[in-house]
Amino acid sequence: MAQNVFGIDLGTNNIKIYNAVTDKILVEKNMLAIENRRNMIAYGDDAFEMFEKAPASIVVSSPITNGVIADIHNMELLIHAFITELQRGSVRSGDYFVTIPSDITEVEKRAFSDLIKDARIRARKVYAVDKAIADGLGMGIDVKNSQGVLIVDVGYDTTEISILSLGGIVLSRLIKIGGHAFDTAIVGAVRREYNLVIGMKTAERVRITFNDINNEEDRLNIYGRDIVTGLPVERTLTREFVALSLAEHFRTIADSIKLILEKTPPELSADIYRHGLFLTGGASQEEGLAREISGELRLTVNMSENPIGSAALGLAQVIRKSAYRSLAYTIEGLGK
Ligand SMILES: Nc1ncnc2c1ncn2[C@@H]1O[C@H](COP(=O)(O)OP(=O)(O)OP(=O)(O)O)[C@@H](O)[C@H]1O
Ligand SMILES: [Mg+2]
Repeated sequence: MAQNVFGIDLGTNNIKIYNAVTDKILVEKNMLAIENRRNMIAYGDDAFEMFEKAPASIVVSSPITNGVIADIHNMELLIHAFITELQRGSVRSGDYFVTIPSDITEVEKRAFSDLIKDARIRARKVYAVDKAIADGLGMGIDVKNSQGVLIVDVGYDTTEISILSLGGIVLSRLIKIGGHAFDTAIVGAVRREYNLVIGMKTAERVRITFNDINNEEDRLNIYGRDIVTGLPVERTLTREFVALSLAEHFRTIADSIKLILEKTPPELSADIYRHGLFLTGGASQEEGLAREISGELRLTVNMSENPIGSAALGLAQVIRKSAYRSLAYTIEGLGK
């Protein structure tokens, strides 16, 4: 039997856990529901079901904000719950590999490793892998032997733009745009245009429905509350309306990639030009985003086959292939 080893990619929206024993990846919402400030009554996808619907006594939240751990206690509770569930109730000691964003402080990085050690899951060793490195491996790039690889991970709270070379990070920048900002933009536009209040879940559903390649409809009916009358009403949104509400965010992402490219050493730029950039993260599937980026930067955009799971797939490679083990480091080694 394979060793008890787990790879964890802690996203703001989704937690992804690779289990080496089963060789499977668990994807669940990174959320928990707390009742009366004390008891966790639901976690993961079950907690998300309650989001925006629960009474005041139940608080549904995510412990990660902007890619960093904002609520250590709740994050530990969640990790403990998921790891216990994956081991069917009896936690055995094991090793852990966690993805870490590059453009955060040393203290914030250390918190990822402390979290695993303190979550009562009998963690033996905890290793960090830079998230962009994991993304690259998960997209099938031999990052250890490649020069000049541009990875863009569009997640929920953040977009991480990184230049990799020979298994290391040359440049990396985390900007605060992702699926959450896209949803907020739609909520705002609907409010201004139709005097209609809709929830974030509805906004996300609108985006994802229009992105479905099997959906050729250009219109979609939504429900919300009329600001003036206060009553629930139905309205029709068009594909074009949604595209217009997101255009500014798409431009900001493209501009931020451009800024990184301007700072990139020329030898690496040549490699990036040859290979194009690699786009991943759940929100990278947003219709029109890849088009905007390739148009603005005149680069080929390679789309991930598994945008939500690419970093976890990369962790799986680090765990399974000894040639990639050197891409993981212990947190004690940070700050060298
Ligand atoms: N088909 C789709 N089209 C557009 N967006 C999608 C689709 N499927 C998922 N998303 C979006 O992907 C986002 C979640 O992606 P992901 O799991 O990569 O984020 P995360 O890792 O949790 O966040 P972060 O990296 O910011 O911490 C959500 O905003 C969700 O709306
Ligand atoms: Mg992510």
